[in-house]
Amino acid sequence: MKGKFITFEGSEGCGKSTQSRMLYDHLKSKGYKVIYLREPGGTAISEKIRGILLDPSNRSMSGVSEMLLYMAARAQVIEEVVRPALLGGKIVLCDRFLDSTIVYQGYGLGMDIKTIKAIGKISTCGIKPDLTILLDLPVTKGLKHRQHKKDRIEERSLNYHLRVRKGYLKLARQEPGRIKMVKVDPKKNKTQDRIRKIILPILRQKAK
Ligand code: TMP
Repeated sequence: MKGKFITFEGSEGCGKSTQSRMLYDHLKSKGYKVIYLREPGGTAISEKIRGILLDPSNRSMSGVSEMLLYMAARAQVIEEVVRPALLGGKIVLCDRFLDSTIVYQGYGLGMDIKTIKAIGKISTCGIKPDLTILLDLPVTKGLKHRQHKKDRIEERSLNYHLRVRKGYLKLARQEPGRIKMVKVDPKKNKTQDRIRKIILPILRQKAK
């Protein structure tokens, strides 16, 4: 693949969407060929699946059904958007990816991680992020940032969200080469500086 695939991960309210968008705007202003996506989402079909997944009235959804729907949304965005963009040499910034399923459905719901990884391989066509920025913030602080009505996943217990964060920290220890942890600072610009310090040298290397 000629392009670069960069994903953003983190537990609820960590500021991941704000930070990834800030980076997108910066890279665009510097003339990089970059696209921005969120997961689940990024295509019309994936956005419809997102609606089903986050709808609080779907409380009776089974864990397997939930995991497979996240994977289905992913398979669609990979095929329709991510793969062609990477083949075309673009930088793809994606707000969440397979790591989210490993921590939210695996560590959070207790589903088998090996099974999730095996299904993940099919849904992603084996495409892996070149780099993942993990924004880390204590769970209680993150949940406080949520102002809107909670969605089906946000509604889950504090213990669930604590397992999610623990899962992320475990993944970061397992894959230190790919997953770079960034501590969230109360000042947005400071967090953004930390992210750029990691990403910009890698993109400059690619351009050489
Ligand atoms: P967002 O709020 O970051 O846009 O993500 C949507 C929600 O979906 C969030 O609560 C995390 C959750 N999620 C999973 O549980 N599994 C996944 O595979 C993905 C991509 C997201």
